[in-house]
Amino acid sequence: MVADAIRAALLTLIGLNLSAATSTSTGDTQAVMTIPAVTENQTWTVSLSQDWDVLGPFPIHAREQHFLSPSFPLKLTDPIDLNATWPSSYADGGSVGWTKAQSLDDVIEVSYPSVRWAALRATEGWAALQHHSVLRSVITVYPPSNPSNQETSIPRLLVDLDQGSFFTLLPPSDNKDDKFVPEWHAGNIYALGRAPPNAVSLPYPPSTDSPTTYEIVVSGDYEIRLFGDPRFDLGSEVPKTSIILTVDIQDTVPAVVRVDSHAVVSDFVDGWAFGNAVGVGLRSLDGWWTVTGASVSANLAEIFEVSLLQKTRIAPTQTRIIPITLTQRAPLRHDSIELTLTVESQDTVSEVRIAIPVEHYAQWSADDVPAAGIKASFFYGTSMPASFIVIPPREPTNAPQPPILALHGAGLDALKEHRLSWVEALPRQRHSWVILPAGRTEWGLDWHGPSTREAWNTVEALSDILGAREEWRSWSFAPDTRVLLMGHSNGGQGAWYVGGRYPDRIVGVVPAAGYIKSQAYVPWVQSRSAHYIDPALRALLDSSLTPDDNDLFLSNLADTPILAIHGGDDENVPVWHTRELVATLKTWNPHANVTYREDSGEHHWYEGLFLNDAVKTFVASILSGEGATAAPSSRSYTLTVAVPSDSGSLHGWSVHSLSIPGRLGRLGVDIEPGGISVRTTNIKAFSIRLGSLPEDVKNVPFLVDGQSVELDEASWDQPDFFLALAQEQGVWSPYPLFDVQSVPPTGRILNVLSSAGPITIVIPSQSPSAQLSAGLRIAHNLDVYHKLDADIITEDEAATRMRDGSLASANIVVLARGELGAFSRSILEEARTPFKISGTSLKLRGRLLNGPSMATLFLHPHPTNANSLVLFAYGADMSGFERAVRLFPIRTGVTVPDWIVVGRQADERGTGGVHGAGVWGNNWSWNEAMSAF
Ligand SMILES: *[C@@H]1O[C@H](CO)[C@@H](O)[C@H](O)[C@H]1NC(C)=O
Ligand SMILES: *[C@@H]1O[C@H](CO)[C@@H](O)[C@H](O)[C@H]1NC(C)=O
Ligand SMILES: *[C@@H]1O[C@H](CO)[C@@H](O)[C@H](O)[C@H]1NC(C)=O
Ligand SMILES: *[C@@H]1O[C@H](CO)[C@@H](O)[C@H](O)[C@H]1NC(C)=O
Repeated sequence: MVADAIRAALLTLIGLNLSAATSTSTGDTQAVMTIPAVTENQTWTVSLSQDWDVLGPFPIHAREQHFLSPSFPLKLTDPIDLNATWPSSYADGGSVGWTKAQSLDDVIEVSYPSVRWAALRATEGWAALQHHSVLRSVITVYPPSNPSNQETSIPRLLVDLDQGSFFTLLPPSDNKDDKFVPEWHAGNIYALGRAPPNAVSLPYPPSTDSPTTYEIVVSGDYEIRLFGDPRFDLGSEVPKTSIILTVDIQDTVPAVVRVDSHAVVSDFVDGWAFGNAVGVGLRSLDGWWTVTGASVSANLAEIFEVSLLQKTRIAPTQTRIIPITLTQRAPLRHDSIELTLTVESQDTVSEVRIAIPVEHYAQWSADDVPAAGIKASFFYGTSMPASFIVIPPREPTNAPQPPILALHGAGLDALKEHRLSWVEALPRQRHSWVILPAGRTEWGLDWHGPSTREAWNTVEALSDILGAREEWRSWSFAPDTRVLLMGHSNGGQGAWYVGGRYPDRIVGVVPAAGYIKSQAYVPWVQSRSAHYIDPALRALLDSSLTPDDNDLFLSNLADTPILAIHGGDDENVPVWHTRELVATLKTWNPHANVTYREDSGEHHWYEGLFLNDAVKTFVASILSGEGATAAPSSRSYTLTVAVPSDSGSLHGWSVHSLSIPGRLGRLGVDIEPGGISVRTTNIKAFSIRLGSLPEDVKNVPFLVDGQSVELDEASWDQPDFFLALAQEQGVWSPYPLFDVQSVPPTGRILNVLSSAGPITIVIPSQSPSAQLSAGLRIAHNLDVYHKLDADIITEDEAATRMRDGSLASANIVVLARGELGAFSRSILEEARTPFKISGTSLKLRGRLLNGPSMATLFLHPHPTNANSLVLFAYGADMSGFERAVRLFPIRTGVTVPDWIVVGRQADERGTGGVHGAGVWGNNWSWNEAMSAF
């Protein structure tokens, strides 16, 4: 696995004895036991017991574990009683107790064969298979045998948890009091590649002359999306959670090491880089380091010049991708590029040398194209090096045709492991490029948020790359070209999603095996929270999913040619999803040009899914433009919008703001011989580009909600004239477009992931260790789940940067525990949102938010950039702070709107512990209709 390779590389680089380190892996515990331990340990070592205690199964719906305590139903402040039993509606008799499990080769398999799963499933379907377990085992840390000639520093653990949701380490029970607050680390639940291990500080210093034991507690959550249907995959009714856990140890040596998995470089075509972005993965083993310079090795100096895009500071244990721009003067023939980076700590300057291997290809031609496509590179956002794959067309053309944007399924590594097979599954075109974005990672954000943004960015990036070199220019297209969307599975869902949000930017969609939305994929009937929460509050929370509810946006696709595909026996995404999407679409427009192709008897993926005559004919017709001209221009349609800043236009109509943000907005348009009639639902401001109307529509009456809007004749003659209208108390009047355009991307805290550049994480300046840990955990999760870069700074630094104008203009996350720091105070004092400072704490509408274990999260405007966000995550005490950190939105489906206040009852009642939540009104105002407090 990739993560193991990184670890091996790290250990070699820092000069640890690799064989000693290997013998500490769990798989070898047995061998160590049979050969009596005579080995003197040169360094700190660690072993993880193979014996596990397991408690479960408890019903849960996907993502509830972000609200519930990961150790639910246990309170970890109490000693663990292995004799206790707990209620569980899955078990015969209605209660469950602890059972035992043994790990084998680092894999812990948890299943409950005595539960009558088939009976539960007969009535509840897949929802009944979702369940939560708590797992517990013991880690032993051994000191070096001869500590005098060793580092006296306390080592860190390197923990890899794949397919588990959270883990924590507990101190020995006699060192744990009732104020103990576990520090939960997120597991790599999707088993994403390119994931560095979690660096974990020991919760209590280990003895330097005898072994010290710690308990490790893991939250294991069975999800259909992760483990599949056991009936199909295992031929069994019994769902099995398989968790992989490895533990290593690392001395805290101040040093920076390479992380090869994080390197980013393009392929070379005829010796020329296919993109000028280069990324170098670096990890700090300990200490703060700043990368201050980059240079190319002497033998390449004639060919390249490199420059560091920005100075990059790495926090202790953090992994970052250092952005470097490459300027090329001559073709490269070497098989790697060698760079030297200058890294500085407070008292040291050193150099890191890197050789990044590159692939060379000859210029593509009609019958010669690299089997696995060409890898291109670009900067995602302002400065995050990223890559994507493209399949060149066979022939250039004077009139560029739209490219195909192909979105992959969940778990597919488009850049490496599955690159060849994904390229081979897609149809190479005569005149169109096929673009295969990575979506940030194998799962990304399910092609929403940063993954959507990246998909669009790759289209622009390819246009730039082709335009930058004479030999490639004839193959280029416009950066804002329309595209044909194609996608499979999660990417099929993504194609429905992207098409439904940007209808004017697409020429057609070929979605295969897509699901409608996460709540429909595995239903929520087993929700624990639902037994406690007021349904009205639940509706507010659920509004944070509205932007992803693909069915609600099908009105936007009613005029787009669609070829929807699904295998008739799909075991992974049930076939009814596509049937239902098509049926819903046809309700909007019975004459919609939608073809449904059900490949009967086929599973989730099958040979020829996209490589068949139906797809070929459909795609060729659309890309050549014949289909588009054949389609009658529509005269009656509806634009649906949830978040105006994340939505494009339909037939030239755009919604700029909603009357009640958080609710759906709809704009119905009817173009009749007698004029244009617009009906609005929950729309505050919209615009129409007059040139987008059918040609025969000119100088006609214009009615909005029955009110006549006067337009002078001259305006009708300017195709690029935008008529913008805004509504005040039911009265529509023209509005300067620039005034209505800048709506902050609010609606849900998840939007903080859609950052224009690296996310700045601000931690308190005083006693920063716990908060630094929280900052590092969030930075780690951003890297693992989204390959989003983060810069960790203190409140004081943030305040200084704000004063001298160097505060980054991208999104910011402020982690605050107890008293608020200088930076927080300075921006909260402006009272841009209803959250106020009160004494040392926060207040919302007169209520103090300093209850025990209370967590508050809210979006706030960025102090210097109207299009960026600040996310505050605040807890008055340690427990509340940790609760806030767990709610940081790293995965889709966690229901948090713009702000939320959660109390300690959430540990066992999930969202039943939410005190209040809501969506901001326009301009960050209180939105009574979408608030509960
Ligand atoms: C050395 O470490 C291993 C585990 O990695 C342990 O089993 C062994 O007892 C240790 N040896 C000593 C002398 O502590
Ligand atoms: C758990 O049960 C066993 C067997 O019944 C008993 O020996 C043991 O004392 C119990 N432990 C606790 C903590 O109650
Ligand atoms: C539907 O769209 C396809 C692709 O553009 C086109 O070939 C076909 O003619 C269209 N069908 C209708 C009825 O417009
Ligand atoms: C938004 O609110 C701020 C004060 O919070 C005010 O200064 C600004 O003018 C408002 N902007 C608009 C467009 O109403």
